[in-house]
Amino acid sequence: MIHRRAFVASALAAAACDRPARSQPAGPLPPLKAAAPFPIGCAVRAEQLSDPELAALIARQASQVTPEWQMKMEYIVRDDGTFRFDAPDAIAAFARARGLRLFGHTLVWYAQRPPAFERLDERRVDFADAFANYIAAVVGRYRGQAVGWDVVNEAVSADGEGWRPSLWSERLGALEHMRLAFELARAADPSAVLFLNDYDLESRPAKRREFLRLAEALLKAGAPLGGLGTQTHVAADLPRGAVKEAIQDLASLGLAVHVSEMDVSAARARGLSADGWRGRQAAVWAEAASAFAGLPPAQRFAFTLWGMRDRDSWLRAENASDTPLLFDDQGRAKPAAAAFEAASQG
Ligand code: XIL
Repeated sequence: MIHRRAFVASALAAAACDRPARSQPAGPLPPLKAAAPFPIGCAVRAEQLSDPELAALIARQASQVTPEWQMKMEYIVRDDGTFRFDAPDAIAAFARARGLRLFGHTLVWYAQRPPAFERLDERRVDFADAFANYIAAVVGRYRGQAVGWDVVNEAVSADGEGWRPSLWSERLGALEHMRLAFELARAADPSAVLFLNDYDLESRPAKRREFLRLAEALLKAGAPLGGLGTQTHVAADLPRGAVKEAIQDLASLGLAVHVSEMDVSAARARGLSADGWRGRQAAVWAEAASAFAGLPPAQRFAFTLWGMRDRDSWLRAENASDTPLLFDDQGRAKPAAAAFEAASQG
């Protein structure tokens, strides 16, 4: 005989399972871009566009695309110093054909020192000309289409103490090369919103403070800085509240905010197995969506996912079993996608 209290408890448990919980909707999930009151971006590589399932998934879910790699100097500048635009043009054409916004990433990044630039005469004037020519050519090519650019990427040192040295800072000056990049990008496309973009702003408050100090220094120097990008490559063990605090803090300058490359790694989280962390991933996505939804509408530039399906993630190169995105390997919405949508509605 089943004890009555046990029976009631199991009936309640069954009802709880049947009820479409916020993270497990009964029907198909509406597209992210239809549910969220802000643009949804997605990273894409040109070669992925020949996968019709992925192209359709991106067009259905996102309203904006960022070239994941092929608008970087490392791709565009050939060894002989000439430029190639085949892959970025293909992504721009895809965006136009599907009615998606295009976001440019990235003009100046310490991590890239194309040999053609390194070989240039060290006299400041020649180097400065090549720098100006590059920014004018790249930003000018997508003028009127790109809604924004990551003008300077990852300028703050990893520990948050000062700014990183780079080929550009060595030749043109620590603040000056950044100010100049913003000015040149503005001249090449006056309507694009120009961003300073960085990572670890959630997990390292000291780095975030330095990032905000740099933004203020650029504004003071007259740079046409229009927005702040936080890459948000986070791990599932990120303390609760960290993403929210970062997003709110970044908004404090009143500039546009871009969650620019989000993924939530289970493999990089410490203390539990990747399986143990899976439940936390959805919560981190939801916290970010809810904090972003809470910003004034004019500051919500876009929320970009660094890939749509788990199997497309750059993190798979580091750990083949990581599951950092909102859609599974087959392109099915994960519980994290439902949690993200629910939270994005505020
Ligand atoms: C990564 C891409 O995802 C990879 O495919 C590529 O090989 C290297 O770059 N911060 C950034 C991005 O600003 O451009 C990086 O993208 C991820 C870290």
